[in-house]
Amino acid sequence: MRIVSGIQPTGNLHLGNYLGAIIRWVRMQDEAECLIFLADLHAITVPGNPAQLRANVREMAAALIACGIDPDRTILFNQARVPAHPELAWILGCTARIGWLNRMTQFKEKSGKNREGSSVGLYTYPVLQAADVLLYQATHVPVGEDQKQHIELMRDIAAKFNADTSVELFTLPEPLIGKDAARIMSLRDGSAKMSKSDSSDMSRINLTDDSDLIAQKVRKAKTDAEPIPETAEGLADRPEATNLIAIYAALSGLQPSDILTQFAGKGFGSFKPALADLLVETLRPVRARLGQWRQDPTEIDRILTSGSQRAAAMAAPTLEGAYKALGLPR
Ligand code: TYM
Repeated sequence: MRIVSGIQPTGNLHLGNYLGAIIRWVRMQDEAECLIFLADLHAITVPGNPAQLRANVREMAAALIACGIDPDRTILFNQARVPAHPELAWILGCTARIGWLNRMTQFKEKSGKNREGSSVGLYTYPVLQAADVLLYQATHVPVGEDQKQHIELMRDIAAKFNADTSVELFTLPEPLIGKDAARIMSLRDGSAKMSKSDSSDMSRINLTDDSDLIAQKVRKAKTDAEPIPETAEGLADRPEATNLIAIYAALSGLQPSDILTQFAGKGFGSFKPALADLLVETLRPVRARLGQWRQDPTEIDRILTSGSQRAAAMAAPTLEGAYKALGLPR
């Protein structure tokens, strides 16, 4: 089993990233060969600031290590240090079809009313994402639910390339989407996913929030007036309640049904302090380790450079194979 996954280095990590992706990467380090990268070439698909991007790459690498990604066991790197990513992306852009990209819901969401004014890179973003994974012959891609369509697209691209060239070059990767935490929702609106682009900071828990702020955000999280039900059926049409129970389940490792049994009949007034405590206790050590890693940008750069060299060596044969399959001399 070889897993590849990435995260955009744009500002803070939030609880959705942590539960939907990062802690699952951390847990998989013992069972699979893992490559995890900062998608800095994806970050430039929207306007940004060079100094900020440089700082964000280091900050996000430090945060991943603080969460438990071990650079000795996981190849941790940033995309921009491995030119094979944009190189294969060009090739795969000649395999992907415009009709396929037109169906991508994230482009529609991110471009909004400004479709014509969006970058070509934002539109072809999923093609680079396909290259990220296919370069390494990954078998599985652990992601949150919002990335599922992009993984399906990369499978289509891989299958078409293999069929068009009659070379079984690319492995078709499977998405690995968690059960409880596949889609952590905003604390203010159970119908919107928790996201770094939400204008209200109260909608998300950031990994850098201190204990008081975490407790305050949980206290103010939107819920309903009904008590906690005994079974999952009682959570139907209660998106905010469902979300808080899912967060508790993902953090504690308990089944949602066990949590319902424990809190059945009580109001959210008594559930929220327990949830806040669990969050505070989980995130406190992460924040402390992040504080330490922030003091050592030289070591972070060393880790990313060394990870990139290992990644580049693993990517080379696939890229070579793609050139050869197409008849491109090198
Ligand atoms: P990004 O940076 O938006 O998110 C990183 C990971 O966090 C997950 N996630 C969530 N999971 C549950 N609930 C949420 N509210 C939530 N918000 C984010 C995402 O699903 C993702 O797994 N395009 C990708 C980065 C990328 C990538 C790749 C991923 C680039 N190349 C190749 C996998 C493979 C992105 O923008 O993720």
